[in-house]
Amino acid sequence: MITFDQTTKIYEGGVTAVDGVDFKVEKGHIVVLLGPSGCGKTTLLRMVNRLESITKGRIVIDGQDSMELNEIELRRKIGYVIQSNGLFPNMTIEENVMIVPDMLGWDKDKKRKRFERLMDMIGLSADKYRKRYPYELSGGQQQRIGVIRALAADPPVMLMDEPFGALDPIIREKIQDEFLQIQREVKKTILFVSHDIDEAIKMADKIVLLKGGQVMQYDSPSEMLVRPKNDFVVEFFGKDRALKSLSLHTIRELNEIIGLEQIDDNIPDTKTLNVNQDLRNTLSMLLNQEADQVIVMDDLGDRLGAITIDIVQKYLHYEIKGKTAVGQGG
Ligand SMILES: Nc1ncnc2c1ncn2[C@@H]1O[C@H](COP(=O)(O)OP(=O)(O)OP(=O)(O)O)[C@@H](O)[C@H]1O
Ligand SMILES: [Mg+2]
Repeated sequence: MITFDQTTKIYEGGVTAVDGVDFKVEKGHIVVLLGPSGCGKTTLLRMVNRLESITKGRIVIDGQDSMELNEIELRRKIGYVIQSNGLFPNMTIEENVMIVPDMLGWDKDKKRKRFERLMDMIGLSADKYRKRYPYELSGGQQQRIGVIRALAADPPVMLMDEPFGALDPIIREKIQDEFLQIQREVKKTILFVSHDIDEAIKMADKIVLLKGGQVMQYDSPSEMLVRPKNDFVVEFFGKDRALKSLSLHTIRELNEIIGLEQIDDNIPDTKTLNVNQDLRNTLSMLLNQEADQVIVMDDLGDRLGAITIDIVQKYLHYEIKGKTAVGQGG
């Protein structure tokens, strides 16, 4: 767990970049630092591994004040990934990935095994890429290497500063999915900087929304979208914030709460969707195809019922008004 306790950063010259920040990151969670440019995301992140000093307040990592960690402990405990992957151009891929294990004095055999395991995680052949140099890899591949380099010594904490920000949207979504898959296995405690709302909603267990170095709201993505605490939060997420919240829920959840409609077999060319599909995609399919219904299938291919624009709307209403409203017939 990481605890921020009145954490403050005032740069020389007097800029207050981080202003009395208080929040806790649970073990195994991804917390996304989100907010407009200059709100202090990078500064806050870099204070955790002491690339920036703390002016006031504290950061406590697993019960230990960050100021008391020595260099070796810092490297072993905290992995760091940045946007421009930070690979050393004159070192091979294997040398790049093994920088921290090297520093920690791992033996050759242990390092080789670890390299192979990490490459396996990101679906790249260890033998094929071991001796290559960063410039011989695509941008997406380099970014993946940046991620496994941070994971190499198996640190409990990962700091990631817009790690996928430089990638084009399609590769980016792919790496996000892949990373979430890896996280399910490795369960790191992660602080992840983003200024992309969709990325934050997708990656975060909780979001810290910052403005001028202060926390505007600290909540799960769906709480923040559905129950924003102040005008800044409302404005930041925009008018379609309720729609965005749909991407966090599946047809299965809707079915459990509202229920699906009966299938109308008289409607021709009806499309089908899997019950695990998210509701944002479902709604855009309904809208784009001007379909009156889409048939919902479970994993075995059995037809569970039909979904319509109408019931997605009902679910949205339920989400916004909260659970009590439905019981009251709202
Ligand atoms: N080394 C520095 N010296 C003085 N001021 C700085 C320094 N680094 C950052 N700042 C200022 O601190 C504030 C926060 O900067 P920071 O880089 O943490 O923002 P950010 O949220 O990461 O922004 P972005 O989304 O653009 O990366 C800004 O006002 C910035 O100008
Ligand atoms: Mg930044």
